[in-house]
Amino acid sequence: MSEQEVLVEIRGHVGWIQLHRPKALNALHMGLIKQLANHLEELDGNDDIRCIVLKGDSKAFAAGADIDEMAESSPIDLIRKEFFGDWQRIRNIKKPVIAAVSGYALGGGCELAMCCDMIIASENARFGQPEIKLGVIPGAGGTQRLTRAVGKVKAMEMVLTGSTISADEALKAGLINRVVPVDQLEEETSKLADKIASHPPIAVHLAKQAILKALDVPLEYGLQFEQHLFYLLFASEDQREGMKAFIEKRKPDFSGR
Ligand code: HXC
Repeated sequence: MSEQEVLVEIRGHVGWIQLHRPKALNALHMGLIKQLANHLEELDGNDDIRCIVLKGDSKAFAAGADIDEMAESSPIDLIRKEFFGDWQRIRNIKKPVIAAVSGYALGGGCELAMCCDMIIASENARFGQPEIKLGVIPGAGGTQRLTRAVGKVKAMEMVLTGSTISADEALKAGLINRVVPVDQLEEETSKLADKIASHPPIAVHLAKQAILKALDVPLEYGLQFEQHLFYLLFASEDQREGMKAFIEKRKPDFSGR
């Protein structure tokens, strides 16, 4: 695998990761996913980075897992290779991750976008879980995250027909945050990422944890979890600074502590 299939650029407090395998529409072979997970973890551990953006190129965010790589696999091959091992690492990233989707986000590509915390799509984006047409089903959350995002009937239709939906349909269905013109995808994503990056990072980190918890646990437990994190934030310097700055009518200067 070429080193250049995943590119990283740091802009201010935002880490931009680009999938860059254009000839195969960013098809996600295992080595590429590993490299992506490595870069995400590196940015997650970098104190200067407060938000991460994941993008593809104009034709594809990613057209799915690499079919050539999977085609002849046996179940034992997949288990031995820990086919989903690096996906687990991607799910565990603590900082907010925004997917900037242009073109195809299919199969594992749609699942990768859904692993992110927010999705901004350009008008040419197409989302879908076409695995059924290959004789399999989604394996990296397509039946689970999609159902939570768009509800049962829409998820059933997408997964059982394998048909794709447009960015506008994805917006209506609640799969994505917003749709922007193709040439404004970077700018709009940047605005969102910069805004998040301007907020105190510990509060951002715990807010992400609390929201993700809501998808997993009963309400009563989730409310308690939220309260505990709320209490915990009163141990941070940024809470003092944020509230003091408000009272003193000035801009806060957050230290990330
Ligand atoms: C391997 C892929 C690929 C994929 C595209 N390519 N998708 N290679 N795996 N998922 C390659 C093509 O073979 C081709 O290579 C090149 O990219 C350009 O693709 P074309 O098909 O020529 O482009 P186009 O006609 O524009 O069609 C675009 C497309 C189509 C509609 C996106 O490529 C397509 O249907 N791709 C497969 C989508 C899919 O089924 N995804 C789910 C995969 S299973 P050459 O060398 O011929 O130029 C999956 C399971 C997830 O994701 C499990 C969890 C990880």
